[in-house]
Amino acid sequence: MSSKTSKVGVIGAGNVGANVANALVLLRKCVRVVLFDRTLSKAEGQAWDIEDSIPLLEEMEIIPSNKYEDLADSDVIVVTVGIQPKRGQSRLDTLSDNAEIIRSTMKELDRVAPNSIVLIVSNPVDVLTRIAITSSTRAENLIFGSGTVLDTARLRYQLGKRLNVAKLDVHVYVVGEHGDSEFVVWSSAFIGTIPLAEFPIPQGATLEQIHQEYAELTRKRGYNISERKGNTSYGISIAVCQLVNSILRDEKQIFPVSARADSSYGVGTEVVFGLPCIIGSIGIERQLLLPRNADEQRLLEESATKLNLAYNSLDN
Ligand code: LAC
Repeated sequence: MSSKTSKVGVIGAGNVGANVANALVLLRKCVRVVLFDRTLSKAEGQAWDIEDSIPLLEEMEIIPSNKYEDLADSDVIVVTVGIQPKRGQSRLDTLSDNAEIIRSTMKELDRVAPNSIVLIVSNPVDVLTRIAITSSTRAENLIFGSGTVLDTARLRYQLGKRLNVAKLDVHVYVVGEHGDSEFVVWSSAFIGTIPLAEFPIPQGATLEQIHQEYAELTRKRGYNISERKGNTSYGISIAVCQLVNSILRDEKQIFPVSARADSSYGVGTEVVFGLPCIIGSIGIERQLLLPRNADEQRLLEESATKLNLAYNSLDN
């Protein structure tokens, strides 16, 4: 699959969808973007605004649409539809409203684009990805969610700043629910090739303090942004762009996406949440097995239990 002919569909022309489309254009990740919304004028308003930048950039195409058929033959379809949590709500609070939207969206996508890779971004992303997998006829490697990719980026950025090293040299994953039960796999955190536990921390602070402070900062980041501006969109749209990039260019980058947990994680084979996977031209190429200590295993199980309960609370 060449990025020269690549087509990316974005469903939902709200804040997140429009920013994903804009980022794909700015970063030149594909050749054609179809921005779909049930309300054509909304898709048009956003797409036309983005299109105006194209003569000042490189040749690309952005097509507004309210017809699912226009998404046919997309390499990747990014799903951002649904309501966003309001102030004071958790991401799981939007589940009952968004579950049905995802089911009906997948039905349409199975009809018009049965071979496209589907990337779920709508929240609660883990449960909605599970619904997308169970309600779709496509192979499971072709559907995954944005998971804890953004949370991991947030942590790497803040920790890099604190330790005064480049963010790209902070190797650590946030896994589990993209939400309140997420956790950091500190036991496998490295700075360069040095285990975090052995890395000198500037201006004092114990390792335990660093763990607590930065896990908390990461968990609360989405809430802290939403309290101030009403939603989040820029961070997630770049996370999505990089996932799309790894698919279109078959980069095989490792990202903690929402995927069904491998049985070796000891949480059954049904729960879907953020776990590191290799992302390439077939979507999920492979799931990796993270080393984890007893505490982390407990946190993984707690997150799985919470998400199973949420999923089972729906009429499936
Ligand atoms: C956030 C949204 C994407 O965490 O859930 O910013």
